[in-house]
Amino acid sequence: MLDSRLSARALDALLGPWRTREPAYEALADAIRLLCLDNRIAPHTALPAERELASRLGVSRTTVAAAYRSLRASRHIDSVRGSGSITRPLGRRDLGRIAADEGMVDLQQASPAAWPGLAAVYAETAGDAPALMARPGYDVTGRRGLREAIARRYTERGLPTEAAQILVTNGAQSAISLVATLLVARGDRVLLETPTYPHAAEAFARQGARLVGVPVTVGEGWDLERAEHAILRSRPTALYLMPDFHNPTGESMAVEARGRIAELARSVGAHVIVDETTAELGVERVISPLPFASVDAGEGVITLGSFGKTVWGGLRIGWIRADVDMIRRLAAARPTTDLGTPEFEQAVAERLLPRMGDILIQRSQLLREGRDALVRVLGPAVPEWDIPSVAGGVALWVGLGAPRSSALTLAARRRGLLLSAGPRFSVGGGHERHIRVPFTAPAPVLDRAALMLVDAWRDVADGGAEAGEAAPLDAVV
Ligand SMILES: Cc1ncc(COP(=O)(O)O)c(C=O)c1O
Repeated sequence: MLDSRLSARALDALLGPWRTREPAYEALADAIRLLCLDNRIAPHTALPAERELASRLGVSRTTVAAAYRSLRASRHIDSVRGSGSITRPLGRRDLGRIAADEGMVDLQQASPAAWPGLAAVYAETAGDAPALMARPGYDVTGRRGLREAIARRYTERGLPTEAAQILVTNGAQSAISLVATLLVARGDRVLLETPTYPHAAEAFARQGARLVGVPVTVGEGWDLERAEHAILRSRPTALYLMPDFHNPTGESMAVEARGRIAELARSVGAHVIVDETTAELGVERVISPLPFASVDAGEGVITLGSFGKTVWGGLRIGWIRADVDMIRRLAAARPTTDLGTPEFEQAVAERLLPRMGDILIQRSQLLREGRDALVRVLGPAVPEWDIPSVAGGVALWVGLGAPRSSALTLAARRRGLLLSAGPRFSVGGGHERHIRVPFTAPAPVLDRAALMLVDAWRDVADGGAEAGEAAPLDAVV
């Protein structure tokens, strides 16, 4: 089965600076392996012909042939007569799903285990099951009681909201996907931060959108000048932003910048989609920032929220807050994808909302301990790294000082630590000089992960003076 073909040019762009101290063929094979593991190259994709790739990369055909041979040996690709070299679906082992069983540490996702009180809330909710099941069960907007409770919380946080402005979804991801399906058509431009949350970028790209990246950097935050230029020049259909505890940098957008971006978006008729999945994850203390939508009384801003990080990703409860008309349009567009959100989990969520105070205190403590564990080990061990000091969010966006993120990710994987490389978070390429290190796991696990990462860095650090150094720095569009 062949789903798509990757041109030599596209693969070159995905590869970024791939050379290491390893023999060229092995470095190339490793870099392609990482792209497969990250799903940046999907299964059933035809890789470019050897000759074409060799010419594009400026290496000999023998090097590409040896790289493909190595990929065949590691079962990452198959040779198919007539179609060339095709990527294979990855097995469980490749995907790292057995990490916990084998003493490996999986930090590919920045996602904490459930809030410890959750099991008890499930047990309480079980008592409601007979009443829950007395209803037909299909409800594309969500349980009335939950929508009221979510609306009340926005109102308490300074953004007056009514239940009719809320649509409950299966996590923020299905909210992103639904919004993208309704608002974005082929050829539209969508402006995102770079780095960004990759599955949002994928949802817009799937609609055929052309993604425009605006840089967010540690310490500097949003490049407003670039944002202004990009909005006025590309006239996007939508902006997708994470203004509070931006994932992965942990930055928060200044209040003036919010007003300016909302105004610019309005001037070109763009929807502002604000993902606040990580907004209440203060690390130093519990913070419930004023929702972004309060900048312009909520007109035209579509806010996404979720219990994915505050309570548990496995709960799969998220929501969309927008004006009543937009909620109606979203509800009308939803049934082709799904017919609602599980009733039981919604009932659990309804019981969780009054406990958000306690939940956020536990989250803040977990994240603080995790962040401190990483900083304690990495700071002194790798003084050449730029380790940000973050006030919130889920991860450290560590500056490596050299374009070695993919090489480091592979070296870490060999030592049993699974991470996502910087380029995974890029819009339009780049971020080979950064790696995302989530601090959502318990501190003792992160202590161990940090030591593995330091060892992995020793394997790859001084290869940085090769071809990679000559490559463009985080080439951001
Ligand atoms: C910014 C952001 N948005 C959305 C999601 C997906 O959240 P959910 O589990 O609610 O679908 C994540 C999860 O990593 C995230 O970091």
